[in-house]
Amino acid sequence: MAAFYDPFMSSLEKVLTGHRQKLLQNTSGIVLEVGAGTGVNFSLYPDNVEVFAIEPSVPMYKRAVKAAANRPNIKIFNIGIEAVKNHQEFPDKFDFVTSMLVLCTVPDPQLAAHIYRDVLKDDGQLLVLEHIHATGRLYGKLQSFVNPLWRPIADGCNLTRRQDWILKNAGFKPIFENYFSLGTDWYEAVMIVESKMK
Ligand SMILES: C[S@@+](CC[C@H](N)C(=O)[O-])C[C@H]1O[C@@H](n2cnc3c(N)ncnc32)[C@H](O)[C@@H]1O
Repeated sequence: MAAFYDPFMSSLEKVLTGHRQKLLQNTSGIVLEVGAGTGVNFSLYPDNVEVFAIEPSVPMYKRAVKAAANRPNIKIFNIGIEAVKNHQEFPDKFDFVTSMLVLCTVPDPQLAAHIYRDVLKDDGQLLVLEHIHATGRLYGKLQSFVNPLWRPIADGCNLTRRQDWILKNAGFKPIFENYFSLGTDWYEAVMIVESKMK
């Protein structure tokens, strides 16, 4: 999967990259990037931001390490979100958590969302870019039908999750939301800036 990931994503990135830029350009302080994949976001962080990137898949992690080769502000760890809390090398709290195309894949997205909340500072922000279960009835039904076949070939990626609802249920409140199509109604996505509910 790691070897095919960037070529597979190249057509979707024509739409996604602008959203990634919008979200990441205003980051500051200390950032936790969850599921960094091949490191596609690394060049989009300001140089003065300290990034702790986590990636549990070894082939993806190796690519991410290469992508961060000339970026001393980015540290990469070969762990999943479940291992972040109380990790010795991590700060207790982060100014930003970034979650891009990750909650579709993590085994327990509710748990992940609660960890995002726990590790964010009270005034911190969660930056989200995720594809969601299509709201159009036809595409939504098609995705539900295809999902059991899709998941094993796409490294556990689910087409049928509503990450926006999961995050609200975990105690996040959107400051800014933008739902958009990834060039085809087959793929709907959402970009959200979230704050913690008090
Ligand atoms: C579709 S890729 C997205 C990669 C990258 N964030 C991007 O925007 O292109 C999903 C990534 O989530 C990672 N992942 C899966 N389970 C995870 C977990 N429990 N914690 C953190 N990352 C996880 C996968 O290894 C994979 O690299």
